[in-house]
Amino acid sequence: MAGAGLLLVTGCGHTPEKKARTAGDKAAAGQPRKAVSKPPPPRRIDCDKIRCVALTFDDGPGPYTDRLLNTLRVARARATFFMLGQNVHGFPGVVRKMALDGHELANHSWSHPNLTALSPAEVRSQVQRTQHAIAAASGGVRPTLLRPPYGSTNAKVGRAAGLPMILWSVDTLDWRYRSVSRDTRVGITAPRRGGIVLFHDIHKPTVDSVPKVLDGLRKRGFTFVTVSEMFQGKPLKPGQTYTEAVVPKPPAPPRAPGASPSSSSGPESPEPGSPAPGSPVPEVPGPGSPLPGSPAPGPLAPGVPAPSGR
Ligand code: NI
Repeated sequence: MAGAGLLLVTGCGHTPEKKARTAGDKAAAGQPRKAVSKPPPPRRIDCDKIRCVALTFDDGPGPYTDRLLNTLRVARARATFFMLGQNVHGFPGVVRKMALDGHELANHSWSHPNLTALSPAEVRSQVQRTQHAIAAASGGVRPTLLRPPYGSTNAKVGRAAGLPMILWSVDTLDWRYRSVSRDTRVGITAPRRGGIVLFHDIHKPTVDSVPKVLDGLRKRGFTFVTVSEMFQGKPLKPGQTYTEAVVPKPPAPPRAPGASPSSSSGPESPEPGSPAPGSPVPEVPGPGSPLPGSPAPGPLAPGVPAPSGR
């Protein structure tokens, strides 16, 4: 399998700095906490009508996750965290805070294996152990979404996992470049309406970039929603794979006599055509930031792991 060798050498970088864990969690525990014991209910947001984007953060929780939560709180933005079960026990306060702030807690397996290389029983174990860990840390939240590590999945994994599988439409490649300026630029310019954006909260440059990313995307008119909020009214099926929310094309507005055909469209409307499922949006490299050796993410054929460290 062509991607397997690359998969092994790139890794996901999810063996983060363990020393900082305790400090991070203490910081979270030291936050003044409102007398709230339950996560807020999902918001009723119609992403067919407003310009939604789902920011997602993988491989945590980690030493920077608490700071990221503070950033998101200030910006009143919600996000989705695809967490590794093995990291949850080190940051129970962070996971609880994540839930209480209205973010979506989601499953990224226990230890980040390529699920297509495991038996169905092993896949179930990876998923279920993580479900239990997140529920225990969060005060009872049971994730409803799975992101298979590396985006690597197939029908067999889907059946064993028993959850909808959420991939992404924008891979920021933050795990590879570890550059605040690059993360900021790609994070602001690459997302499209209905997009699912892949970041990793275990990397400091990523977390450092988020304030400007939020600001830039907000200026582009985006509302920050969780993945489940974005798919409200569009039920997600267990075992199926999703890369973005398809936004229906608006009906052609009635034109006033003499109006220009483009008069009702903003500078970024209408949306460009949606990519086929499994076809991540190409990145937007800018001057001065070449992408040396960056493999073009291709369609995810069943059983073929994405050649990257996601
Ligand atoms: Ni990952």
